[in-house]
Amino acid sequence: MHRAVRGMNDLLPNEIQSWHYFEKSFTSHVELYNFHEVRTPLIEHTALFKHEIGENTDVVEKEMYAFERHGDFLAVRPEGTAGTARAYVEHSIGSKEPITRWYYLGPMFRGERPAKGRYRQFHQAGCELFGDSGPLCDVEMIDLVYQFFLKMGISKMNIHVNSIGSGHTRQRYRQALVDYFTPIRHELSEDSQRRLELNPLRILDSKNVRDQELSSQAPNILDLLEEDDKNHWQLLVHFLKKLNLPFVIDTKLVRGLDYYTRTLFEFRVLDTDLGAQNTLCGGGRYDKMISNLGGPETPAIGFAMGIERILQVMKKVEYKENPLCYFAPLDSSAQAKTLELARKLRDLGLRVEVDGRGGKLKSMLKRADAQKAKWCIMIGETEMEKEIVSLKNMKTHDQEEISWKNLPTYLANQSKMDHGQAACLE
Ligand code: HAM
Repeated sequence: MHRAVRGMNDLLPNEIQSWHYFEKSFTSHVELYNFHEVRTPLIEHTALFKHEIGENTDVVEKEMYAFERHGDFLAVRPEGTAGTARAYVEHSIGSKEPITRWYYLGPMFRGERPAKGRYRQFHQAGCELFGDSGPLCDVEMIDLVYQFFLKMGISKMNIHVNSIGSGHTRQRYRQALVDYFTPIRHELSEDSQRRLELNPLRILDSKNVRDQELSSQAPNILDLLEEDDKNHWQLLVHFLKKLNLPFVIDTKLVRGLDYYTRTLFEFRVLDTDLGAQNTLCGGGRYDKMISNLGGPETPAIGFAMGIERILQVMKKVEYKENPLCYFAPLDSSAQAKTLELARKLRDLGLRVEVDGRGGKLKSMLKRADAQKAKWCIMIGETEMEKEIVSLKNMKTHDQEEISWKNLPTYLANQSKMDHGQAACLE
């Protein structure tokens, strides 16, 4: 038997309602902030991710699904920011509008070790904003995420924020960390000793307890910020306070992607069984990426949230579907008529299934019941002659005759009285 690839999940219809609910809620929420949807390919040139995310990041070095085809080196996207920024530059969007607000939803691929809340194919919903460098827009974006989580019924969370500076700050900070860790390098975990050479900032978010102890005395990035970065940071904190956002300043927050400048943030949910996977959303500013990609100097900021993780934390979504009308043609002469009537019912927004398997009435009623139909609509020889249907209410077992002409409006009215599509949080 073939099985799905480890860490890649099927989404069956019984789960998909929560996904639809999430997608609709996210889309309508970010559209209130004037974001517009962009869809970029799942596959990009590997070089894009190497240059923008960083060759020495775990994502690029260890986790990317990369391959060669027709002489091109390609990779399935591990995240959405690099592809979105590539599209922004490729289509010269910056020359057409001063500010661009884009959002996306879709699958991402990282060959990580699968665990609860950590998959190899997972889905992100994210926003990217190009053209605004001010801290007000950073806070608007953080608040957008916070307000969205509240709408999803998620309120117990901390927003970790930090600044990684810009210009030479990152370089100076890197050096400060190398100076600090080098004399004690033998006490670091093997992984962190390697990071010391390649990417010392990553030592700060090591999961190893001893690494964490050693990091606690490491130099503080906020002490190294240059004047402009410091002003940006102070205003950011000021606005976060004004909006009463539940934030914590976390100077160890460096995030796993190399493109960030200045503001970094992560939303971590409290009281869950997601363990280390409790980060629902991560983001930050990446003011250098657009010019790195050959575009004009353009500041940018964005975030992405993990849909699987959010659905695990969110309360269950209960959907009420429109009631189902089930057509049972009792002999072959009635079959074409059922398709014709089914069309008319669907035109009025009714959900309809036609039993194409035929057989005895008893079997068809059983199937109607198994499909949780509200009505079974039977047409046999007599009904064909009289131009009627026999309509059976599957719950009450009442049966009545209705003319073909009146059937669609009759069922549409009944359906309106009983139901109406609604999604609600339990
Ligand atoms: P990231 O922190 O790598 O950032 O991922 C964002 C979110 O995606 C995480 O907080 C988590 O919820 C979810 N996620 C990541 N990896 C997995 C996984 N293996 N399984 C399940 N969920 C996962 C980015 O991807 C950046 N592109 C965010 C960004 C946008 N920064 C600026 N703009």
